Amino acid sequence: MAILKIARMGHPILRLKANPVDDPTAPAVRALVSDMQDTLADIGGIGLAAPQIHVSQRIVIFEVPALRVGVEEAIPLTILINPKIDLLGEETAFGWEACLSVPGLMGYVPRHDRIVYRGYDLSGKEIEREAGGFHARVVQHECDHLDGILYPMRMSDLSQLVFADEYRRHHPDTLEEAD
Ligand code: NI
Repeated sequence: MAILKIARMGHPILRLKANPVDDPTAPAVRALVSDMQDTLADIGGIGLAAPQIHVSQRIVIFEVPALRVGVEEAIPLTILINPKIDLLGEETAFGWEACLSVPGLMGYVPRHDRIVYRGYDLSGKEIEREAGGFHARVVQHECDHLDGILYPMRMSDLSQLVFADEYRRHHPDTLEEAD
């Protein structure tokens, strides 16, 4: 078990385009993903991308809790290697996001509402899912990390970039959050 240090905004590794993984079934990939899982479990976040733990490889992990019962379904811990996203339609929606690499802050970020994503798991099997809403938001946020993009770079209104504790103090009903 290893809990790894998280790179914060300003570290150059977060701005790189990460490298594709040659062999998703390689033992080194399994060990890396295991450390990512330990790190995410320790911090209690929703998702983590390999560049956030200083490894420039195209790997993300995430778990989507059931936020709105009956509206969105919980997604179990998912490991996605070499992910690709196809956008479905033009529709976008705004939602609050946070990021382990941007501690303390959250922002109101526009994302595509419906996507199809593909990637490989640790056994080399292809995963393909259609996603909407918060699930789609989490996947877009994590995959952006593989292209050197942090959520503030997706924001259209920087007046909505706030300290999470301060904002919540004044808006106690704020719902969604992705990291
Ligand atoms: Ni993030």
